[in-house]
Amino acid sequence: MPYDLYIYRRVSTVDEYKTISMPLRNFSFRNIAVETFNQATESIIFTWKEIAAILGLKQDIYKNPLHRPLGKPVSAILIGAGNRGNIYADYALIHPDELKMVGVADQNAVRNGRFARKHHIPAMNRFYNWEDVFARDKFADAVIIATPDALHTAPCLRALDAGYDVLLEKPIALTESECRLIHEKAKATGRIVGVCHVLRYSPYFKQLKEIITSGTIGDIVSVQHMEPIGFDHMAHSYVRGNWHNSTKSSPIILAKSCHDTDILRWLINEPVEDVQCFGGLRLFKEENAPAGSTERCTDHCPVEETCPFSALQIYYRDRKRLYVFDLPEQRRNWDYIILKKLKTTDYGRCVYRMDNDQPDHLTVNMRFGKNITAAFSMEGLTSYEGRATRIMGTKGDIVGDMEAYTITDFRTGQKTTWSLKTDFHGGGDHRLVQDWVQAVGHQDAQILSSTIDVSVVSHLMAFAAERSRLNHTIEEVKLHK
Ligand SMILES: NC(=O)c1ccc[n+]([C@@H]2O[C@H](COP(=O)([O-])OP(=O)(O)OC[C@H]3O[C@@H](n4cnc5c(N)ncnc54)[C@H](O)[C@@H]3O)[C@@H](O)[C@H]2O)c1
Repeated sequence: MPYDLYIYRRVSTVDEYKTISMPLRNFSFRNIAVETFNQATESIIFTWKEIAAILGLKQDIYKNPLHRPLGKPVSAILIGAGNRGNIYADYALIHPDELKMVGVADQNAVRNGRFARKHHIPAMNRFYNWEDVFARDKFADAVIIATPDALHTAPCLRALDAGYDVLLEKPIALTESECRLIHEKAKATGRIVGVCHVLRYSPYFKQLKEIITSGTIGDIVSVQHMEPIGFDHMAHSYVRGNWHNSTKSSPIILAKSCHDTDILRWLINEPVEDVQCFGGLRLFKEENAPAGSTERCTDHCPVEETCPFSALQIYYRDRKRLYVFDLPEQRRNWDYIILKKLKTTDYGRCVYRMDNDQPDHLTVNMRFGKNITAAFSMEGLTSYEGRATRIMGTKGDIVGDMEAYTITDFRTGQKTTWSLKTDFHGGGDHRLVQDWVQAVGHQDAQILSSTIDVSVVSHLMAFAAERSRLNHTIEEVKLHK
């Protein structure tokens, strides 16, 4: 059973404690259950099915009732065979009866070749620029667009015009008007556009949605939500990496946190009215560079060994986040190649001397319909990643951190706790692809949770928050201008 839910109930006497502890023997083979139980002195653990029965929830929330067998696999072309594109396309390797990758476009010859070999793409279906895909007549059901942020709008519009259904990486586009354009084009062409808001598909958020919808904690009054990015992830992606400059990629509230504006609106299920944002760049600027530090970590920097952002430590010694270097599969020359990359690319530059402008911390206040409020905080300087959520209802509350959550019923004091270990997207990536494949295969957008229709709002919220941050204003969010 991959996803278990554990419930803790307060007990008042030792005898009651002993009585309810008995069924725990059944779980003793599960380390996590035993560990969790040891920490909870006054608790009892049940299975997910028992919990679902207690709370009156669906027992199998991982099954989409709209899924039906497909007559043949959906065929798709990947545009942008980098990190994300490969994650989505890997679904085809695990489920060849559902998805088949039949083409690839990437200007990076290494990635293009690796992808073609992995998915047996014939030479005629390999392209080095996305535009060349559309110079050919339509030869697949759909395209997956996973190019850099600034290259989403044009291929998406071309794909829709050519009659392809689309799986589009977030951000949908870099401006409000482009987001609206894609939305309108999708409506006009009647094609399916799924947006990669993968968190909606994670068991954690799926369950929170289910619990909230069932009324278990009454009506939502307010939400606090935090996105800890992690100091090394911040340095890698938003100081040294592809998203270090908001004008060349997109503002961090859009690039990183449109998942969170989407999740908040989805969970609260009311239109968002106003947003207000504060935040800025505190650490990663030249004035904070340690005395004597050098342009690159490889320049015999005197503080390199004590710097938490040392590129030599992260990439060379710890061998972390190496996917950006397209290293050869044979590891023979890795030391040499990594050092060369650190001497020649932004990944080896001092984090205090980059041309970065993304805030390393920000907070957004939001007001939704029915006067529901939400406070969101994005933190670049944390030792941990993930999400943390507190949902306040009229009858109870939920405290969660992506790997576990606890629901507390105000009246009875009953605590229900669930726990799960997954990848950092909470297991959502392939669940998203599964729904999208079903939607395309059956030509039914209803199957999909993150359609373009519902996803655009999260982006409008992010644009409004960025305007607020820059102009010190409270901004209205309007779907229609
Ligand atoms: N859904 C999520 O949670 C999530 C997470 C991370 C990134 N993203 C988004 O996914 C997108 C891709 O990010 P990534 O980390 O995979 O980046 P990446 O750099 O690893 O991949 C992008 C690929 O696009 C290719 N490319 C660039 N120009 C091209 C062109 N003209 N024609 C064809 N290919 C071209 C690049 O060579 C590269 O291989 C970005 O928009 C990013 O913001 C989404």
